[in-house]
Amino acid sequence: MTRILLLGGTTEASALARALAGTGADAVFSYAGRTDAPLAQPLPTRVGGFGGAEGLTAWLRAEGITHVIDATHPFAAQMSHNAVAACAATGVALAALERPAWQAGPGDRWTCVPDLAEAVAAVPKAGARVFLAIGKQHVADFARKPGNHYLLRLVDPPGVLPLPDATAVVARGPFDLAGDLVLMRDHRITHVVAKNAGGSGARAKLDAARDLGLPVVMIDRPAIPPRARFGDVASVMGWLAR
Ligand SMILES: NC(=O)c1ccc[n+]([C@@H]2O[C@H](COP(=O)([O-])OP(=O)(O)OC[C@H]3O[C@@H](n4cnc5c(N)ncnc54)[C@H](OP(=O)(O)O)[C@@H]3O)[C@@H](O)[C@H]2O)c1
Repeated sequence: MTRILLLGGTTEASALARALAGTGADAVFSYAGRTDAPLAQPLPTRVGGFGGAEGLTAWLRAEGITHVIDATHPFAAQMSHNAVAACAATGVALAALERPAWQAGPGDRWTCVPDLAEAVAAVPKAGARVFLAIGKQHVADFARKPGNHYLLRLVDPPGVLPLPDATAVVARGPFDLAGDLVLMRDHRITHVVAKNAGGSGARAKLDAARDLGLPVVMIDRPAIPPRARFGDVASVMGWLAR
């Protein structure tokens, strides 16, 4: 009997959840619990960490899971590492649903950096107006460059911001080019910092930056151990059927 754990938190995970529900698959959807009001899923849903690779190993055994699909964000590296370790320990089959990384094209002014620390180093020391399109977890790192103004776009109201000169807008993607052009013009943005998430829902800010001639500091994806990887929902469904 197939019983699936779907690690979610992305648009693609939600699409896969719909496909699984449509076939009547025995599957559990898992959220980390980072947002106040996560999207409802058409599958039984659990919320919260498992307790590291060991906790996940125990959970997979207790739940009789046969297949894990890691459809977490490409920057959710800890969860992905844990899934690789726990599946290796239990013999559970693992596949990742992974959107291709964005590539710079003509007109793009990207500086690619390996990690957040290098992204902080890559923004001007002061006087810039930076659209920090990296979610909420690591914005405090930019306090090392307090002389810039920062624009944050967050899913939930942030409370006190960890930066001395910052504005937060609360919005949930997908975003489009027209909206992101307005946002970036209204806030007189001079620089964009982004994670190379890939996909279409967060791409608009890069197109807007290109149209406005703005430089983008692009943080490359963290390394994840090798695992079966698929780029779309249909391919994952095919893998499960095999
Ligand atoms: N990082 C981003 O830029 C980003 C952007 C959009 C959405 N997300 C989503 O937000 C979630 C958290 O991202 P993150 O960067 O904090 O991940 P992370 O650093 O890789 O994960 C930290 C810990 O959070 C728990 N966790 C993460 N994803 C989980 C899931 N789907 N179900 C249950 N527990 C989970 C695990 O806790 P235990 O060790 O206790 O099991 C994991 O070790 C992910 O589900 C991801 O898809 C992340």
